[in-house]
Amino acid sequence: MATFRIRLPLMTCCNKPLLDQPILARLTGSAFSRLQLVHIGECESTNSLLLDLAEKGAQSGTLVVTDRQTAGRGSRGRQWVSTPTGSLTFSLLWRFSGGLEKLSGLSLATGIAVVEALDHVGAKNVTLKWPNDILYEDQKLGGILIELHADAQGAMAVIGIGINLETPPAIPQYATSLQPSGLDVIIGAPIDRHTVLAALLAKLVEVFDQFDQTGFAGLKERWEKYNAWQNRPVALLRDGKVETQGVCRGADEEGLLLIETDQGIEHCISGDLSLRALC
Ligand code: BTN
Repeated sequence: MATFRIRLPLMTCCNKPLLDQPILARLTGSAFSRLQLVHIGECESTNSLLLDLAEKGAQSGTLVVTDRQTAGRGSRGRQWVSTPTGSLTFSLLWRFSGGLEKLSGLSLATGIAVVEALDHVGAKNVTLKWPNDILYEDQKLGGILIELHADAQGAMAVIGIGINLETPPAIPQYATSLQPSGLDVIIGAPIDRHTVLAALLAKLVEVFDQFDQTGFAGLKERWEKYNAWQNRPVALLRDGKVETQGVCRGADEEGLLLIETDQGIEHCISGDLSLRALC
């Protein structure tokens, strides 16, 4: 097993670490040899920590997993709240061939890996909301935050993933949910974080290898299968205002959202997607 030598705060002595590295390595299988695990008891944000490590020369495959994230970051500058036993919070550094422009669609590709890994551990019918939400019955089960880092050799991505293992308390990212989902609710059995994390890591490595070869184009059909809004009426909101509305037709080969409007198919770069009310 590869190790990454860097000075980081250790676990507090009274808190038993939530992650056992040999168990994780065994469950992850051969993909674990591609990773350098940094397990840390507490940090502000695994994404921020990994971006710092990338600046200091961390290699592709560096994986930061924390038990407690104190200032987790969500998309669009939001906070990401998690609890040690109720959440899985980790970030993975991955180098892709080509420049930053080749990374469009990476968030969607990551979503595919998450859905398929969760399916593998028994969480069926998890879906994706473009570009980076993980849903169960239209409620947020997790999220993906991708941040980019470029160095002399090319582009790297810090891929941060937060998964709600247990039914969470009323916390900001679930503010709209009266029926918060947790993996324990969905699977109907107690969750073993090692099993879930191992399945995620194995699938991420597989999907990133494919993404590196084909870009999102080679994964597009898989994503559309999990797209919660596929062929459904949607409105794309920007700053709370409807920018485009029509029927969601999936994503193009670069991961842009396709919305069929009266004027034809529009390719949408970003926004706040929400379902349009059916009349
Ligand atoms: C979203 O808003 O949906 C994205 C949430 C991403 C949260 C994860 S938790 C691990 C990693 N570290 C962070 O600070 N954020 C991401």
